[in-house]
Formats: sequence, C-alpha cells, structure tokens
Amino acid sequence: MLRLRIIVATLSALAILLFLFFILFSIHFKSPLLPPAYTTITFQNKSSPHQQFSLLIGVLTRPDKYDRRHFLRLVYGTQSSSIAKIDVKFVFCSLTKPEQRVFIALEIVRFNDIIILNCSENMNSGKTYKYFSTLPQILSRQYNYVMKADDDVFIRLEPLALSLQPLSRFDLYYGFVIPCPSMNPFVHYMSGMGFVLSWDLVEWIGNSEIPMNHTFGPEDKMVGQWLNDGNKAKNRFSNKPVMYDYPGTNGRCSHQLIPDTVAVHRLKRWEQWLHVLNYFNVTKDIELYNIV
Ligand SMILES: *[C@@H]1O[C@H](CO)[C@@H](O)[C@H](O)[C@H]1NC(C)=O
Ligand SMILES: *[C@@H]1O[C@H](CO)[C@@H](O)[C@H](O)[C@H]1NC(C)=O
Ligand SMILES: *[C@@H]1O[C@H](CO)[C@@H](O)[C@H](O)[C@H]1NC(C)=O
Ligand SMILES: *[C@@H]1O[C@H](CO)[C@@H](O)[C@H](O)[C@H]1NC(C)=O
Repeated sequence: MLRLRIIVATLSALAILLFLFFILFSIHFKSPLLPPAYTTITFQNKSSPHQQFSLLIGVLTRPDKYDRRHFLRLVYGTQSSSIAKIDVKFVFCSLTKPEQRVFIALEIVRFNDIIILNCSENMNSGKTYKYFSTLPQILSRQYNYVMKADDDVFIRLEPLALSLQPLSRFDLYYGFVIPCPSMNPFVHYMSGMGFVLSWDLVEWIGNSEIPMNHTFGPEDKMVGQWLNDGNKAKNRFSNKPVMYDYPGTNGRCSHQLIPDTVAVHRLKRWEQWLHVLNYFNVTKDIELYNIV
C-alpha cells in the first residue's frame, strides 16, 4: 500500500515536472526572457480619429506580485479613454527565480503587458531611471506621454486623459506635487504615486548626464531634481485635489474620495479597493446573471 502510494506520488511529481519543462521549453524560443533583459513592446496601431494623443502607463512593481498584477489587469480592463490611446504595462527588474521564468512567460504570452528592465529590484536604486532611459530603446513607436505609477494606486483613465488634453505635449511634468499642502509645481517634485512626463523629457532622461550621474535616492525626488538641474519641464501641472492618498492614510496628502478623481494612492487593503471601486461605480453597469 505504502509502496503504491510512493509510486503514485513519484509519477505525479514527474508528470508535473515534465509539464513545466514542456511549457518552459515551448515558450523559450518565442520569448527569451533572460538574456536579453528587455522585453520589446510592439505598439498596436488601433488609434481612432478621436484619439488625440497617446500615453504609456508603466506600473512599477515586482515580479512576485502576481496577484496584484492580476487584479490591476481587471481594474484597468474595465476602463478606456475616448480621447487618448492609453497602454498600461507592468515594469520590473530582471527575474531572479527559476519559477518566475515560467510563470511570467505565461503572463507575457497571454497579456503582452510586461517590461523587464536590466536592473535588480531595490528601493531607490535607479529603477525609475532605468525605466525612462530604456523606453526610447525598446518601444517600436513613441508615445506623447509616459507615466510612472505605483502598484497601489487606482488611476481613472478618462479623467486622466481629459486633464492632459489641454496641456502641453512638450516639456511637461505632471502629477501631485510634494509636500502635501503645496500648490506650486515648480518647487520640489511630483509624488511617485503617479507622474507624467512628455516624450521629449523621457528622451532627455535617456541622453543627459544629469540623470545618469544621479540615479540613487528616493526615485520621485530624483526626477524632480534632474529636471530642475537640467532647467527642464517649463510646463508643470499639479493635479490637486483630484490626485490624493486614500482617506486617513497619509496626513495632508489624504482626503475623502471626490467625484472628479484622477488617482487615489495607498490602496493596500482589499476593503480600501472595494470602497474605491464602489464609490466610482466601476462595476455598476455590469449585470450579474444567475446561471440556471
Ligand atoms: C545589463 O546590465 C549589466 C550591468 O550594467 C551589463 O553588464 C549587461 O550587459 C546588461 N545586459 C543587457 C542585455 O543589456
Ligand atoms: C497609425 O495610425 C495613425 C493614425 O491613424 C496613422 O497616421 C499612422 O500612419 C499609423 N501607423 C502605422 C504604422 O500604421
Ligand atoms: C557625470 O559624471 C562624469 C564622470 O564622473 C563627469 O565626467 C561628468 O562631467 C558628469 N556630468 C554631469 C552633468 O554632472
Ligand atoms: C455613482 O452612481 C450613483 C448612482 O447613480 C451616482 O449618484 C454617483 O454620483 C456616481 N458616482 C460617481 C463618482 O460617479
């Protein structure tokens, strides 16, 4: 009896292993993950005449946060913009564990929404620099704007697009200016929750020695410093009060949810996400039928 069980267990383990090897092997040639460290992004040209500009939102996250990516795909899958072409991609540094090469390969095949940068995951070690400076090299087409977003922020795409529409497509730095009470986007920097740069600034980051020489430090603060040192971003826009931290999570950066919201940050717990999704009626029009 025991021997039989051992044999069955061994056989199942073997089958699972074979299956994993099969997946790894069969995807290997289509999606060589490492090396090279970059995933090339093909820009799908589905732009309609109403779409006036394009925006890439890069959600900076870590490879192991599978559940968060799954959830954010659902959240952004319910949204679109009538005036902008918006792509949401997940951005992280090089893979470090064997299982990531399998699981993330599956995500890439299914969703094609992952950018793997040549860096190692570390807070404030230049990931944001790597992100912006790599984009011009790997994108098959440029966007008008590029955003860096956290993975604990809820962004409402249409209000975001509407707020960008009247602004400059050039030399623009947009976000939520720090410190919390400040209303002056020309002093200090935009919060890492989510800030937008026009494409020319993305290219500048990739070419200038100023960012290249200052990659270590709090990522959002560094971006503000580069732009100031380079005398860049003549056009700045701090979108308060419609960008903010979730009520009660961060002092004067927080306030109650409001209808015109562009972004709510610091969503760590499920009940916070639930509150936000309900408040903005994200699933209100989705009919749930009973299966009979
Ligand atoms: C990744 O970065 C390392 C260190 O900077 C470099 O040696 C290596 O060539 C890079 N790999 C690719 C594929 O660019
Ligand atoms: C993409 O669409 C735009 C707008 O319709 C058009 O001008 C452009 O030529 C298209 N590009 C490609 C590569 O098809
Ligand atoms: C960046 O660093 C290099 C090497 O240390 C130096 O030669 C260059 O002048 C620096 N550039 C700026 C803009 O600080
Ligand atoms: C959500 O729907 C309710 C009921 O239709 C409406 O009163 C409310 O204004 C909507 N909320 C937002 C943020 O649009």
